[in-house]
Amino acid sequence: MKPLPINQESEQKLFFHNYARFPLAITHGEGSWLVSDDGTRYLDMIAGIGVNALGYGDKRLVQAISGQAAKLIHASNLFMMQPQFELAEKLLALSGLSKIFFANSGTEAIEAAIKMARKWAGRSGDDHKKEVLSLSNCFHGRTYGAMSLTAKAKYVDGFDPLLAGTGMIAFNDIADLEKKVSLKTAAVFIEVVQGEGGIHRISQQFIDRLKELRTQYNFLIVADEIQAGCGRTGKFFSYMHVDADPDLVCLAKPLGGGLPLSAVIGSEKVADVLTYGNHGTTFGGNPVACAAGIAMIKAIEEDQLMKHAEEIGNYMHDELQKLAARHPQILDIRQYGLMIGVTVDKEAKYYVEQALRKHVIINATSQNVIRLLPPLNITREEAQQCIIALDEIFTEETAG
Ligand SMILES: Cc1ncc(COP(=O)(O)O)c(C=O)c1O
Repeated sequence: MKPLPINQESEQKLFFHNYARFPLAITHGEGSWLVSDDGTRYLDMIAGIGVNALGYGDKRLVQAISGQAAKLIHASNLFMMQPQFELAEKLLALSGLSKIFFANSGTEAIEAAIKMARKWAGRSGDDHKKEVLSLSNCFHGRTYGAMSLTAKAKYVDGFDPLLAGTGMIAFNDIADLEKKVSLKTAAVFIEVVQGEGGIHRISQQFIDRLKELRTQYNFLIVADEIQAGCGRTGKFFSYMHVDADPDLVCLAKPLGGGLPLSAVIGSEKVADVLTYGNHGTTFGGNPVACAAGIAMIKAIEEDQLMKHAEEIGNYMHDELQKLAARHPQILDIRQYGLMIGVTVDKEAKYYVEQALRKHVIINATSQNVIRLLPPLNITREEAQQCIIALDEIFTEETAG
């Protein structure tokens, strides 16, 4: 049987229709660039949706993956494996927390954190202390627990009934926070910088009040660092910018250097909440993914990529401000390291299409927000190329 061509028609035939893909067949990547099957190079300002922190083809990462694959690809968590131990030690040192659990995707990490929070809260002896809260405009994933914590109707509609005992606090609204948390609260899930929600940062006042209320009502603060973590905002964990002091931290996306890997890291308070058989996953902490994770973190440290992310992010912010002064289509710019949101005066999808024409890959979120999550090692020249392309697009649009 002749294989189908790699095009949109075949895509429609083969797959459930849950992804709106670019009309591009990608064959490989080089640095910050993706290459399509006709040899065209595209500047990738979205990096596999915030995954490819080192861009494409980093030799250290490739060697770590191939070296570990030659030794052991999978054995399961029935065994102890060196890459898992080394990565666990590294993440515990970086967070100052006590225990770690590895899974495969962001949503699985959130799911594990929900389970841990409820089991932990159950120990209080209060059967009603099971409420898990999140913040409006958030995104935590697409499995049932994570989806039940997720705000937007487009991710949730039609899948009811959702998980019972979940609720939402208005983002950065201290009065609503005070109204919603109580002795029934087991955990509050936060994204310090909301990614999918359009790049919005939690306020210091909100975090301070959340911590006070945690002391009063004894619940857990869970930091979802899946998109903002691993150095993207200029610190390894974005919660470090606001001293959120979380009890549980969820990591994923860049953690496995492009391979599926996620983690839940927990404080002493929850250190013994899980017991044998309570929770687990066959592939979680796969040795190849962990070896990639170690190489990824080493590269971030060796190449000082957190500092670089901050510098290039600030540079892009300044350049975008200059564009905003000339182009009224730009309504607002929010930037935390290399997590950048640009609010525009129409559906951001229009700009995504125009950018693609100019061989730059950007992404739209929250209807009218252009989201940029480039590799952490993007060069200043590449960042400038993205700015030039955006400048041209806004200018051409005005010229009609
Ligand atoms: C903040 C946040 N949490 C959770 C998730 C879910 O992660 P995954 O798609 O790996 O399940 C995402 C994915 O975009 C995310 O950005």
